[in-house]
Amino acid sequence: MEVIICSNETKVGEIGAAKVAKLVAEIGSHVVLGIATGSSPLATYHCLANLVASGELDLSMASAFALDEYVGLPVDHPESYHATIARTITEPFRLNPARVHVPDGDPSRLDTAGQRYEAQISAAGGVDVQILGVGANGHIGFNEPTSSLTSRTRVKTLTPRTITDNARFFGSTTAVPRHCITQGIGTIMEARAIVLVATGELKAAAVSAIIEGALTSMWPGSVLQLHPRATCIIDEAAAGSLKLTNYYKQVYANLPDWQRLAVDTN
Ligand code: GLP
Repeated sequence: MEVIICSNETKVGEIGAAKVAKLVAEIGSHVVLGIATGSSPLATYHCLANLVASGELDLSMASAFALDEYVGLPVDHPESYHATIARTITEPFRLNPARVHVPDGDPSRLDTAGQRYEAQISAAGGVDVQILGVGANGHIGFNEPTSSLTSRTRVKTLTPRTITDNARFFGSTTAVPRHCITQGIGTIMEARAIVLVATGELKAAAVSAIIEGALTSMWPGSVLQLHPRATCIIDEAAAGSLKLTNYYKQVYANLPDWQRLAVDTN
């Protein structure tokens, strides 16, 4: 796994955006993006939106697939991932809303929602570039610890830890939905390239488990060790429990020209 350690969250955003833009350039204007919610990728999204605004990046023909959605939250609820994606990605990236997809969390259609979402991803040709955050417990999407490492899009129950972590968006833990629909780990792993961003010391344990720990469903993100093209972009605080920090920095400082990003980590 490629590991890029940045001095702070702003730099994570700049490097994250540069990495995603480079991968998008390889694919072309019809790129299929995999998009994550949560606070972690916001700095990256901000920088990508700036590239779109300045004309350096054109995503008008791109498609996008969100990782997950809460079950039972109306799509127009401000914290639904439908609304969050529209606000933080679709509009600032100038994506065509008709090409932006979010799993269907309507309880009346849940029995088919997973299969329908998988079919939509397949029909688009699969995800080219997946942007990921990570939960403090190592979850990716909403694939909580012990999720099958080959799982497909389906309904999951949120852990108490995730409910507590996400209560900040809802005002209280009781207001957080208990269930979600999420792309499976097997689904996420089919993306052609994956860029995970994480910041802050609360993510240090998960980051260390994912990058340097054993492959285990107890830390779902550790599955990225099996991906041929995964990059973790983290700040110093999130890197706090890593053992090979100096090595990762040395690798980044000595990248061959064709792999270089036009942004410094400091
Ligand atoms: C959320 C999302 C994930 C996200 C993670 C971390 O619950 N379902 O996609 O990566 O938890 O969130 P944050 O970046 O806000 O810490």
